Amino acid sequence: MEFENIVTENNEGILHIIINRPKKLNALNRDTIQELHEAFTDAREDEEVKVVILTGSGEKAFVAGADISEFADFSAEEGRELAAKGQANLFDFVANFPKPVIAAVNGFALGGGLELAMAAHFRVASDNAKMGLPETSLGLIPGYGGTQRLPQLVGKGRAMEMIMTAGMIDAKQALQYNLVNHVCEPDELIEFTEKIAQKIMRNSLVAMSAAIRAVNANYEDGVNGFEVEISEFGSSFATEDFKEGTSAFLNKRKADFPGK
Ligand code: COA
Repeated sequence: MEFENIVTENNEGILHIIINRPKKLNALNRDTIQELHEAFTDAREDEEVKVVILTGSGEKAFVAGADISEFADFSAEEGRELAAKGQANLFDFVANFPKPVIAAVNGFALGGGLELAMAAHFRVASDNAKMGLPETSLGLIPGYGGTQRLPQLVGKGRAMEMIMTAGMIDAKQALQYNLVNHVCEPDELIEFTEKIAQKIMRNSLVAMSAAIRAVNANYEDGVNGFEVEISEFGSSFATEDFKEGTSAFLNKRKADFPGK
């Protein structure tokens, strides 16, 4: 599919989704959010896609935030709608995506950019990356899940400080904060992230989807994550991947998962 604001490229099962508005530091305007929604929807149905790596084009930015020029004159109702639609179509969509999504943070990840990286299942950053939620400097609060996902990842005190100061932290500090799992040289970021994706792809993607549902259940209001785990664990026994995984182990050979 052809897009104007993003580029997609499937490299042997790893789908790269690249936000491609480098002149605007890949800021998320309405069209970009819609295209990302469409790309993720296609990727969900496409059996050739096993893992998604999300990154920004150019050397400067992953995503420098929501496009400020689009909401400068919004009313309260329009603001609410922007956040609700964005969360449903992109941020929650990514967080609950049934295939692993890794954010390769290659520069500024600010506001909606950091929120998008946080919606991914985990993050790898280049050592020049800078992360922050600067919304309070604009008279706003984060609206794409930042007030919820940042404390989950870094703890309440650190999240409060980042939101209140509207400041940026560098990749080294993000690693200390557990906001990113790894930091590497900018020109090694994609290769490094692909190596993790390749490791993931050796395992059962059916089990992976179940694990995503179970882990996410811990963060859903009124849902007992342990019960979701028991149910998903039980369902795993009825999959072809389980039969293949256990029979490969018992026969001392490498598993070749059918993905069913
Ligand atoms: N929305 C809209 N446009 C943005 C943007 C955003 N979030 N972030 C950057 N841009 C645009 C700039 O307006 C500029 O466009 P122009 O060349 O047409 O004037 C272009 O991207 C380059 O940005 P610039 O500010 O010139 O780069 P810089 O290196 O001086 O500064 C930042 C980089 C990231 C520090 C700065 O762009 C910034 O603070 N951006 C906004 C971050 C933010 O508040 N995000 C949260 C939004 S809720």
